[in-house]
Amino acid sequence: MEKKTKITGPIFIGRSWMEYIKMFDLDLKNLKNQKILDCAAGASSFTSYMHKQDFEVTAVDLIYDKSPEFLQLRCQKHLQALIDALEKMKQEFVWTFFHNLDELKKHRIKSCQDFYQDYKSGKGKRYLKGDLTNLPFEDNSFDLLLCAHLLFIYDHRLSEEFHHKAVEEMMRVTRKELRLYPLVKHKGLKSTMVEKVTNSLSDNYEFKLVKVDYQFRPGGNQMLVISKK
Ligand SMILES: C[S@@+](CC[C@H](N)C(=O)[O-])C[C@H]1O[C@@H](n2cnc3c(N)ncnc32)[C@H](O)[C@@H]1O
Repeated sequence: MEKKTKITGPIFIGRSWMEYIKMFDLDLKNLKNQKILDCAAGASSFTSYMHKQDFEVTAVDLIYDKSPEFLQLRCQKHLQALIDALEKMKQEFVWTFFHNLDELKKHRIKSCQDFYQDYKSGKGKRYLKGDLTNLPFEDNSFDLLLCAHLLFIYDHRLSEEFHHKAVEEMMRVTRKELRLYPLVKHKGLKSTMVEKVTNSLSDNYEFKLVKVDYQFRPGGNQMLVISKK
């Protein structure tokens, strides 16, 4: 029997560029000449797609020092483990963007492939190793930061201190705005870290919750936007 992959840390997969556009309510015509950073980008195809369209985009992840082949294999394994897990709890998710598990699988395999192809030529250029709590960039280096599927959903593994530090650090490197998605964990429960983070923001920042046209976890149709005043 094939050995099942046991995932102990954040899963290394990636949403597609199309999911990013919906999750973060992005209007591409407003992003020309904007510097964008995708934090904890995983195997998302967002950077690959945006780079091909001539947008200025950089992706950071803790394990972008690894080889393309290593990451491709990890993505394939984690994706399969995710599909196996979802198979057992399909009814807990909202099937509007994807209509079934097979569609989700094909979509995510394509993201993983697009990521792999682009990472081969972009590693060390637009794909940089970095920790969310200590990013390798000067202050105000980007116009827009995006951070999906790391903060809030892993609040059982990532401490409150990590959440505060990561948000402070991402706000340091953005000139304008940080968008975070999703805010809910499973079964529509909002992470308690959302309030902890927004309650302790510096007076120089403001935040709003914005409804988005994407939902996979029930109640997961909101992003948190934190901006500099
Ligand atoms: C579930 S994936 C999310 C990928 C993508 N953002 C998306 O929404 O599909 C989480 C990613 O966070 C990365 N990660 C975990 N801890 C991190 C840290 N401290 N700093 C940067 N990246 C981290 C993992 O390597 C993994 O690729």
